[in-house]
Amino acid sequence: MRISDKPVAARLAALGVELRPGVSLQDLTSLGIGGTTDLLLIRRYDTLPGVIRELKNEGVAYKFLGGGTNVLVADGELPWVMLHLPSAKPGVRVEGNFAYVDAAADLGGTVTFCAKNDLGGMEGLIGVPGSIGGALRMNAGAYGTQIGSYVREVELYRAATGENEILRGEEIRFDYRHTSFGPDDVMLRVKLELPSKPYQEIVAGIKVCNEKRRASQPLNQKSAGCIFKNPPGASAGRMIDELGLKSFRVGDAMVSDRHANFFVNAGHASFDDMIGLIDEVRGRVKTSFGMDLENEVIFWRN
Ligand code: EPU
Repeated sequence: MRISDKPVAARLAALGVELRPGVSLQDLTSLGIGGTTDLLLIRRYDTLPGVIRELKNEGVAYKFLGGGTNVLVADGELPWVMLHLPSAKPGVRVEGNFAYVDAAADLGGTVTFCAKNDLGGMEGLIGVPGSIGGALRMNAGAYGTQIGSYVREVELYRAATGENEILRGEEIRFDYRHTSFGPDDVMLRVKLELPSKPYQEIVAGIKVCNEKRRASQPLNQKSAGCIFKNPPGASAGRMIDELGLKSFRVGDAMVSDRHANFFVNAGHASFDDMIGLIDEVRGRVKTSFGMDLENEVIFWRN
């Protein structure tokens, strides 16, 4: 969708929005798949309710793009514009045991920044790609750590009220790769409470997690991390591996030869290639193990 030529573009500019016409989602997602649309950079969180009201009044559909590491986006001209909160590095401020983090801040960068201030707890999250906002929305987790455990307050745009609000940690449910945030809520800032730990100890923990991850995950290939959630008591990766599906491909979408729950873009994979691979693997797991695999990655179809 293009809004560059509409009067709405001028009104958005007055709200401090920077418009980048015709960007490719291939360049903005870790899978390297996706079509083209206008990108709106929102530099001031307080203008967000006004920006969204403007888009709704004009009938302009929109979606929010965070780090782009957990989405599979349709090809071609996309029927919505992308909104994005650019990150100002480091986007983190520490006060005692609290870290105040912008949603746009990089998750790994935040873990490192906190470590330098002798605040630990999030070592397991070090290699998880993406932004703090995406990590919050999905309750990102790895190696026994989930970000939700440390959340004390979240400032967000509430789609239900059309305003920015602050939620206390106890008002939010954090489950396995799922939270109680509404689908159109937008994360803005978070207050984390982290345990004090000496820097060297945190670094040692980070090193162990990095080594485990390097040994088991295809870090140098284009992927969106794990494609499926693990069903209760089972491992999606192990089941797909047991079916001999490592390196199985549909077009240029391929099951990683390293970790079977990572599906990689091994060339110029299209949205349909990746969907075809996901459907085929899901079907085979259902037939052989009787398990319904739920997507972890979010699909943006057009
Ligand atoms: N396994 C295989 N073959 C494979 C992959 C895994 O046999 O190809 C086996 C492993 O040997 C292990 C078990 O399956 O016994 C579990 O594998 P792993 O430890 O790699 O963890 P996972 O359950 O596949 C989860 C998260 C990852 C996270 C790791 C480490 C999900 C869906 N995945 O993977 O998160 O990095 O644990 O904590 O919960 C993500 O969310 O995108 C993600 C990558």
